Amino acid sequence: MGLPDRTEYSRRDYLRHLVAVGGTAALAACLEATEDGDAPTGDPAERPPRQHAWNDALDTDEDGNLRPPEHHVLLALRLRTSPDAGARQQVETALRSLESAYAYDTDGLLLSVGYTPSYFDRLDARSPIPEPDSLTSLESPAFDEFDALVHLASDRADVVLEAEQALLAETSEPNGTAMEATFEGVFERAEPRRTGFVGPGLPAEHTDLDGVPDSVPEEAPFFMGFRSGFAESQAPEDRVTIQKGPYAGGTTTHVESLDLQLETWFEQDNHVQRVAQLFSPVHAAEESVGEVGEQLGTATGVAGEVADETDTHAREEGVVGHAQKAARARDDDGTPPLLRRDFNTVDGDRPGVHFVAHQRTIAEFVRVREAMAGQGLAGEGVGQRLNNGILQYIFVRRRGNYLVPPREKRALPARERTSDTTSTTEP
Ligand code: HEM
Repeated sequence: MGLPDRTEYSRRDYLRHLVAVGGTAALAACLEATEDGDAPTGDPAERPPRQHAWNDALDTDEDGNLRPPEHHVLLALRLRTSPDAGARQQVETALRSLESAYAYDTDGLLLSVGYTPSYFDRLDARSPIPEPDSLTSLESPAFDEFDALVHLASDRADVVLEAEQALLAETSEPNGTAMEATFEGVFERAEPRRTGFVGPGLPAEHTDLDGVPDSVPEEAPFFMGFRSGFAESQAPEDRVTIQKGPYAGGTTTHVESLDLQLETWFEQDNHVQRVAQLFSPVHAAEESVGEVGEQLGTATGVAGEVADETDTHAREEGVVGHAQKAARARDDDGTPPLLRRDFNTVDGDRPGVHFVAHQRTIAEFVRVREAMAGQGLAGEGVGQRLNNGILQYIFVRRRGNYLVPPREKRALPARERTSDTTSTTEP
C-alpha cells in the first residue's frame, strides 16, 4: 500500500490512512502532519498491575460512557528465539522504554501483550487457553497462529505508529526517549497487520471506499451507524480478570475480524429495521434509540425483559436484535461478562470491525458469541442470518485467542512446563 495523497484528505483522515499503511515512510509523514507537539511522556512505575486496566486512563463521553482511544494497531509477532532470561529481560525493557516514552493516557499510549496457544506449544508448555475454532456454522475463518499480539491504542496516530516501529527497532527515540531495548532478535513481525479507528464522525469520512455508502450517518462512531459500548453493557475490569492460578490478575482476549456488508444494511433497510436488528423490535417500536443511539445515555435497556423476550420476538415479530440476543448471556446478577474494545477498520480497503474482547475465560466469549449467533432462533421465525440480529451483514474472516498475563509476567510467560495451569474453568 502506497502513502495516501496529503491533498485528498482532511488532516484527521490523512493520519488514519497513514496508520493503516504503517512503516517508516508513513511514520515520517505522520510526524510531519502532526500539529499537536510532543506526546506526554510517562513513568512505567505508574502503570497499573493489570495490562487490561485501561479504564482509568480513558475519557468519557457526554453521558459518562468510557470513550475508546481513536487509533489502534494490532501488531502480530513471531518468536525468533527461545524465551530464556535474557530474552525476557529484553522484552520487558522494550515495553518499559515505551512506557517511559508515553504517558498512561489517551494522548500517550495504552498497550497490552497477549500470547496465543501456538506460543505455549512452541515452549512445550500447556496452553492456558484453547486453540481458536469456528464458532458458528456460517463461518470458515483463518486463525491467528503466530505467537504474540501487541495491542497499541492512542488518540494520536503518530503514537501508535511510532510505538510499533520502536518495538521493531525501526526507530530509536520514540517521542524523544531512547529505547533501552527493542524486540529485535526475539520477535519479528508476523501477518496480518491490523489497524483501525473509532470515534464520532470517523466512519462517515470513508465513503470514498468501495463498500462504504454515503448514507453512513455523519455522527456515527461505528460503521453500522450507532454508538456502542454503553457503560451498563460492558463488563467491569474485575469481571474479566483471572482470579487464580499463575496468571491471576491477567485476562484473555478474543479477536474476531469481520467484514461488513454496509450497502445492504444502509440501502435496503430503513432506520426502524436497523434499530430492530441491532437493538430489539421493542426499541424500534418505541423509537427509543435516536439517530445514532444518542437517546440511550448509559444503557440500552436490553437486559432482563427485552432479552427474555427474544424467542417471542422471533416468533411474533419475525426479527430479533443483536444486543438483545447477546444480553441473554449476561451473568445471573445482570453483569455482562465481556469487556468489548472493538474498533472499525478499512484494512484491505474494505469496511470491517476488529472485535477485540476481554473476558475471564475464552469459554465465556464462546458462550456470548453463541447467544449472539442465535442458532436456536432460526426456524422460530427468523433465518440463520435473515432478521437474526446483524448476521446478514457480518462475515467472520479471522479468529484468535490470547492469554494476556498480568503486567509483571507479560514478557514471554511460562518459564517451565507447568502442571498448575490445567484448570478448564480459568487459565
Ligand atoms: C460488526 C460487528 C458488531 C457491531 C456493529 C455491534 C454493535 C453492537 C451494538 C450497537 C450494541 C448495543 C450497544 C451496547 O450495548 O454497546 C452491541 C452490544 C453487544 N454486542 Fe455487539 N456488535 C458487533 C459484534 C459483536 C460480536 C462479534 C460480539 C461477540 C460476542 C458482540 C457482543 C455484544 C455484546 C456482549 C453486547 C452487549 C449485550 C448486553 O447488553 O449484555 N458484538 N453490539
